[in-house]
This record gives sequence, C-alpha cells and structure tokens, in this order.
Amino acid sequence: MTDLASPITDSSRKTCTLYYQLAEELAQAISSGVLQTGEKLPSIRKLSSQRQVSLTTVMEAYRELEDRGYIEARPQSGFYVRAQRGFAMPELTQPPQKPSEVVIDPLLQPAELARLHDIKVDFGLAILSPKLYPNAQLQRILAQVTRHEPELISDYGKPQGDLELRRQIARRSLAWGGHVDAEEVLITHGGMEALNLCLRAVTQPGDIVALESPAYFGLLQILESFRLKALEIPTHPQTGISIEALELATRSGDVKACVLLPNFSNPLGSLMPDDNKRRLVELLAERNIPLIEDDIYGEFCYHGDRPRPAKAFDRNGNVMQIGSFTKVVAPSFRVGWVTTGRFQSKLEDLKFINTYSTSPPLQRAIAKFLESGGYDHHLRRLRKACADQVTSAVSAIQRFFPSDSRLHVPQGGYVLWVELNTAVDTLQLLQRALADGISFTPGPLFSPSHSYRNCLRICCVEPWTMRHERAIQRLGQLASEMIYGC
Ligand SMILES: Cc1ncc(COP(=O)(O)O)c(C=O)c1O
Repeated sequence: MTDLASPITDSSRKTCTLYYQLAEELAQAISSGVLQTGEKLPSIRKLSSQRQVSLTTVMEAYRELEDRGYIEARPQSGFYVRAQRGFAMPELTQPPQKPSEVVIDPLLQPAELARLHDIKVDFGLAILSPKLYPNAQLQRILAQVTRHEPELISDYGKPQGDLELRRQIARRSLAWGGHVDAEEVLITHGGMEALNLCLRAVTQPGDIVALESPAYFGLLQILESFRLKALEIPTHPQTGISIEALELATRSGDVKACVLLPNFSNPLGSLMPDDNKRRLVELLAERNIPLIEDDIYGEFCYHGDRPRPAKAFDRNGNVMQIGSFTKVVAPSFRVGWVTTGRFQSKLEDLKFINTYSTSPPLQRAIAKFLESGGYDHHLRRLRKACADQVTSAVSAIQRFFPSDSRLHVPQGGYVLWVELNTAVDTLQLLQRALADGISFTPGPLFSPSHSYRNCLRICCVEPWTMRHERAIQRLGQLASEMIYGC
C-alpha cells in the first residue's frame, strides 16, 4: 500500500471541511472556464472577507488548488489560474482486418475485479452512483401502482411487454424524428437481454459480426457464448466507425450482422455524425446486413437535444434499436427494450422462450414515471452530473497523466478512453493500481484481438472528490514510472 491509502480513507472527513469546499468550488469554476487560464484569483484577504471565512481557510484552499495543479503562486503578485494542459486525441484505430474468435478473460472484468480486490476507487465499473437515481420518486410510484393494480403482482405479463410503457417509448421517439409504433417495441431484461435476442435472431454459430474497435466487452462476451466471430472495424474516437472501412469489410458478403453504438460508444465515447448514420443505414440495407444499434447511452448527452439514433434513418426495418432504463432510471428494475423492425416476430418468439416476460409492476412504474414528466426532470439532473464528473476527470487526467497521453473528451456518456505511451502495459498497470486500491478497465478487454495494451477506460460514475483526484494522480505516477523507469 502506498501513501494513497490515507488520503482515500480520510477523504470523507476532509470533504466536509470549509477550505476543501471552497477549493472544490474554485476548481469547478476553473474546469468549466468561468475562471480562465492566467486570470488572477482574489487576494487571500479579499476572498476571506467576501466569503466570511478565516484567512487560514482561504490559504488552505489555495494550497489545495496548487497541489492539484489548478493554480500557481507568483512571488509578490498572488495566485493565478494555471494553463490546463490539453491532450491530443487518439487516432482512428487500426485493428486486424481478419475476424477473430472471441475469448474473454473473466478475471479482467470490472465486476470480477471488484469482487476479488479491496477497491477504494473504482474507475472500472460503469455503474453510476446510487445517489444519482430517483429512488424516492420511483418508490412512491411503485407503491401507487401496486396499490391501485395489485393484480399486476400475480400477472405474468405479456412477452411483448406493458402496452403503456411501449406507448411511452414510441412517443419519445417522436423527439428524434422516429416513427416507431408501440407494436414494434419489445420490452426486455435490460439492454443485455436485448443484445442477446437480437444476435440470436440474425446469426448462427460461426457467423461473422462486424463491430467497433474497441468494443463493449459485454458484447464480446455474448459473441463468445454464441461462438460468433468478431470483425473489428477501424473506429475514430470522435466520429465512430469508419464507413469506408465497413464498406470494404462487408463487400465479400461474409458479415452477417453489425452491432454498433453510434451515440456515445462505450468505451470510446464517439458520436457518429448524422450524415454517417444515414450512410451506414443505407449501406447495410443495400447489403441486407441487419444493424443492431445499441443506443443505451443516447440519453446521456451533455448539451442540447439527445442525438438521433441510426434508427431515425431506417426505411425498411433493418435496424434494431436497443434502449434501456438501467443506466438512466433504475439499475435494479432491469427494464430495457428493442424496436424490432422487420425482425419483430422472430424477436418476440425468442423473448418468449428466453425469459417469457419482464416484471409487469416495474414496467408500469417506469411508464408512469415517463408519463408524469419526472423522467425528463431527472434526466436533466443526471446529464449535468455526468458532464461535471467527466469534466473533473478530464481535468485531473490532463494534469496528472504523462504528457504524451491521448484522450478523447466526449460530448455525452460517462466513460473516458485514454491512450498511453506504448511503454505502458495497462494489464501490468492494473495490477499495480489494484495494490493501491484503484481499479480501471485495461484496453485489451475491449478487443477480441487483445489490442489496445497501452489504453484504458476510466468510468466517471460518482460525484468527483479528492479521493478520485488522488487516485488519478497515483495512476499518472504509476504510468510515468513504467515509461521513465523511476
Ligand atoms: C454499451 C452497453 N450496452 C449494453 C449494456 C447492458 O445494459 P443493461 O444494463 O441495460 O442490461 C451496457 C452496460 O454496461 C453497456 O455499456
């Protein structure tokens, strides 16, 4: 254990102190650009009188910000905002051009790491803090639902799902120009069941499936269990999969399905421009290759309206769009859905034999939450929280990671993809970090060809605190040691 242990365990006491809260407030102002590089901060005396706090409190807050690299003291002059270092963006990925069998090391999965190690700061699990969910509201709605309709408890429900919920989902598609009919919506046990059903609907063992590279490891596990081969397609961290590369890869007719995350992919955070989505949908429709669109992060945009899914450009039902309330509303409810397109009857049959139905009271509670407007209100708060968490993480990574690191700053979601100097093996980095109680997901887990050894994914799932800051600092130190050997 290093000296990281004490700041982490002491952090909750520390975060309650006045100086720390003042430092946090100023750090936020710097990260969000309210206070800009080179700007002078108020003198210690002035801030102490403005805030009605002691001189020591302000001095300690400034010292904290200096330690964290936000500000610098200039002799005889005062405190100034330091330039926040920006990192270059990773380039278009270059995965192998051949399909691979998928073999995933279960011991590298974030949930398994969390089970086997004493983790104090977990950047591995993509599970948002319980504090960010509308538990009290949902508890009230669920109580009302079961009070007014107790028969829902003894009802198996229908395989397609609750009609009220399906209508609400169809209605929300109007916002992105979708013409989804409630009949076309199939409710599932989260996004995971939807991915399973969609892949089973359109592939046979041994088939080749095209995907982003790097790709969500949960998807790779499904491919592994169905004995499907993965064809990794070059992907840009900003704009997603290369349509040109996909066009070439699908010429031979061997690719039987394509699974993509056009909106805020996991782990790259890329967002495909609308024009690329249109070209993607047209290309795959022409070649009769079904598109499974995993859109579970689409709602997590930081600014403006949620981006349109590829489904918005679908003209012949070739796109199955997957959504989920797991990440957005209630992880324990496990309610997701898929808009089935031309695969409706196949998907309904598969749902019937897979889990038959999804819990009727839980579906109805979500339907009521959507109908009441509570969902939109919650979504605004959630988006803001994710944006703040990611901004703070980006700022810390830029201050503490080696200067030749590369990073893509996403416009939505809550995962960050960092590319380090090739001297860093993130599998080894993970072992060292785990010894300090820190976890993250190493790059090779996102690739069937086990590429990306010098990359890692950081999940920003909790309100940012000193604990996270110190953990990023420690990761940066460990990475530097691997590069410079000291
Ligand atoms: C990209 C992606 N798709 C699907 C899922 C699974 O969704 P759910 O939790 O709704 O089953 C996850 C969960 O982390 C994910 O990151």
